[in-house]
Amino acid sequence: MLDIDKVANIVLVGPMGSGKTSVGRRLACVLKRDFFDSDFEIVARTDVAIDHIFDVEGEEGFRNRETNMLTDLCEISNIVIATGGGIVIKPENRELLKHNSFVVYLSSSVEQLVARTARSKSRPLLERSTNREQTIKDILEARETFYQEVADIVIDTTGKKLYAIINEIKKAIPK
Ligand code: S3P
Repeated sequence: MLDIDKVANIVLVGPMGSGKTSVGRRLACVLKRDFFDSDFEIVARTDVAIDHIFDVEGEEGFRNRETNMLTDLCEISNIVIATGGGIVIKPENRELLKHNSFVVYLSSSVEQLVARTARSKSRPLLERSTNREQTIKDILEARETFYQEVADIVIDTTGKKLYAIINEIKKAIPK
């Protein structure tokens, strides 16, 4: 059993549109911890948008930057981290996540993910897709076992309000 006092970080994983950033920001506030969003930090560090990184360096370049960022964030203690949806793809990221972090997998129905990302213009994997619903289904199929592998808890966010999700996470954090 994890002891939260010894757990460096609370890390949120899950697909695009599962609510990692909104949940993470609120959770950090409630727990009086600092909040970091790995995509935001990558943008701040590079001074360019994520889709620009995909354009110039390809997905591989972005994934390398993502691993570097996760490594750096995991060096900080006592924070809440919202990750990008693809953080679980690389085995080394999964090992990092499983080591000394309390990992929350925010799962969601495909319908909700499609609805929540419908207006998004900054997610290259969706931007380039001609069928967003199918792309989201394919992504879930490819990553579901990875999300489960790293998760200490899984919270289905479908149809739930932010405060309800936060309460579920708070209850699940080891005392
Ligand atoms: C990605 C998710 C995005 C971002 C990038 C790639 C993915 O983050 O990291 O566009 O591979 O699922 P969000 O999950 O915050 O949208």
